[in-house]
Amino acid sequence: MIPVRLQPIGPADLDRIAALHAKCFPGESWDRQALGEVMAMPGAGAWQAVSAARGRIGETMGFVFDTAIAGQGEILTIGIAPLARRQGIARVLLENLFERHRKMKVAAITLEVAQDNIAAQRLYESEGFQIAGRRPAYYRRSGGASVDAWILRRMLVEERS
Ligand SMILES: CC(C)(COP(=O)(O)OP(=O)(O)OC[C@H]1O[C@@H](n2cnc3c(N)ncnc32)[C@H](O)[C@@H]1OP(=O)(O)O)[C@@H](O)C(=O)NCCC(=O)NCCS
Repeated sequence: MIPVRLQPIGPADLDRIAALHAKCFPGESWDRQALGEVMAMPGAGAWQAVSAARGRIGETMGFVFDTAIAGQGEILTIGIAPLARRQGIARVLLENLFERHRKMKVAAITLEVAQDNIAAQRLYESEGFQIAGRRPAYYRRSGGASVDAWILRRMLVEERS
C-alpha cells in the first residue's frame, strides 16, 4: 500500500496532473488548459493524492475534480496512477469529496461512467452510487465506436449519532 496524503491541486500542479490524466484516459484526456477551466468553474474542487512513500515522496498518485453548486454535487473526473491502483486511493479521494460536499450542504452527487468501465462501476457501487439514467453514445472511442454512459447518483444524508 502506497501511503498518501490529500492536498488541493493548484495551478503549479496542472502539468503533472494533465500527464497523469493522459495515462488514465488514453486518447480522451484533458490538457492543462481544460483542467484549469474546470478548476475555474463555480463551486469547483480539485484534490490530489500525493505519495508519502520513501522513494516516491511528492509524486501525484491520483486526482479528482468536482463541483458543488446549489446543493448538487458532480464528479467531473477521477483517476489513479496505474501503478497505484487497487490500493484504496480512489476510495480515499471519494471519502474526502463526500466530506467536503456535506459541508457545502450537497444533497446528491452525480457522475457519468462508461458502460464498459467495470473498475469504475464497481468502485462507485461500493461507495453507494446507484443508476439514475443512461446517456446513449455519450463517449466516442478513438477507433470511432461509441459507448453509452450510466448516470449514477449518490444521496448525501446527514449522519446523526
Ligand atoms: C476506477 C479507478 C479510479 C479506481 O481507482 P483505485 O484507486 O484503483 O480504486 P480503489 O483501490 O479505491 O478501489 C475501491 C473499490 O473499487 C472496486 N474496484 C476498483 N478497481 C477495480 C477493478 N479493476 N476491478 C473490479 N473492482 C474494482 C473494488 O470494489 C475496490 O475495492 P476492493 O479493492 O476492496 O475490492 C482507477 O481504476 C482508474 O483511475 N481508472 C482509469 C480512470 C477511470 O476510469 N476513472 C473513472 C472514470 S468514471
